[in-house]
Amino acid sequence: MPNHSAGVEQAPKTEGRTIRWWARFYDTASWLMSFGQDARTNREIVARAGIKPGDRVLDVGCGTGAQAIPSAMIAGAGNVTGIDPSPEMIDVARRKAAKKRVEVDFRLAAIEELPFEDASFDVVLSSFMLHHLPEDVTRAGFAQIRRVLKPGGRFLAADLVSGRSLVGRVIGFFGHAHKLKSLDAIKAALSETGFEAVEELPSSQGHLFFLIAKKPA
Ligand SMILES: C[S@@+](CC[C@H](N)C(=O)[O-])C[C@H]1O[C@@H](n2cnc3c(N)ncnc32)[C@H](O)[C@@H]1O
Repeated sequence: MPNHSAGVEQAPKTEGRTIRWWARFYDTASWLMSFGQDARTNREIVARAGIKPGDRVLDVGCGTGAQAIPSAMIAGAGNVTGIDPSPEMIDVARRKAAKKRVEVDFRLAAIEELPFEDASFDVVLSSFMLHHLPEDVTRAGFAQIRRVLKPGGRFLAADLVSGRSLVGRVIGFFGHAHKLKSLDAIKAALSETGFEAVEELPSSQGHLFFLIAKKPA
C-alpha cells in the first residue's frame, strides 16, 4: 500500500529507476526524443491494448498519464487506474487529467507490490517502463500483474527494443536496453509466470515492440 504520512504521500521503495526531478519536463522530452511521434505511439499503445467501454484498466508505470488518460476516454470514468512510484510523475498526471476533465485514479505504487485485490482488472498495460526495472523486479512485477488480472484478462507491454533499427541502435547506445537480455527473455519470463498466448504484435515503428500475454481463463 502507498505510505501516507500526515497526509503527505511518500514515494514507495523500489529498485526500479524512477523519474523524479525532471517529471515536469518528461512530456517535452518524449516529444523531442521521439521526433514528434509520441502522440502517434501513445494512440498505437492504447489501440493495441484493445480496451473496450467498461473495461477495468491498470497502467503500471503510468508516468504522466500519456496512455492512462486516453484509456479512460474509452473505458469510461472511474475505470482506469495508473500507478507510478514517482510522486512528481503522479502529480503531473493528476494535473493533466484534471485539466482534461478525465477521471483517472492515479496512485503512488510500485509494480512489485500492487495495492489491489486479486482479479481486479480486465487489462493491464505498461509502456516504456520495463527497461527501468532490474530483472528480479521485472519478474516480481509480472507475478503481480498476473495476480491482479481477472481470469482471461490481458497484459500489453510496449517498450523499446535496441538494435532493430537506427533509432533502436541509438537508444541502445544511450543505455535504454533491457535488463532481461532480449525480447525472447521477456517472453520467456511471462510464460514462466503463468501467462499464455504470449505473442509479439506487429509494430509500425522498428524500435518499438508490443507484447500481449493472457492470464488463463
Ligand atoms: C519512461 S517512463 C514511462 C512513463 C509512461 N508509461 C509513458 O509511456 O510515458 C518509466 C516510468 O516507470 C516508472 N517506474 C520506475 N520504477 C517503477 C516500478 N518499480 N514500478 C512502476 N513504475 C516504475 C518511472 O517512475 C517512470 O515514470
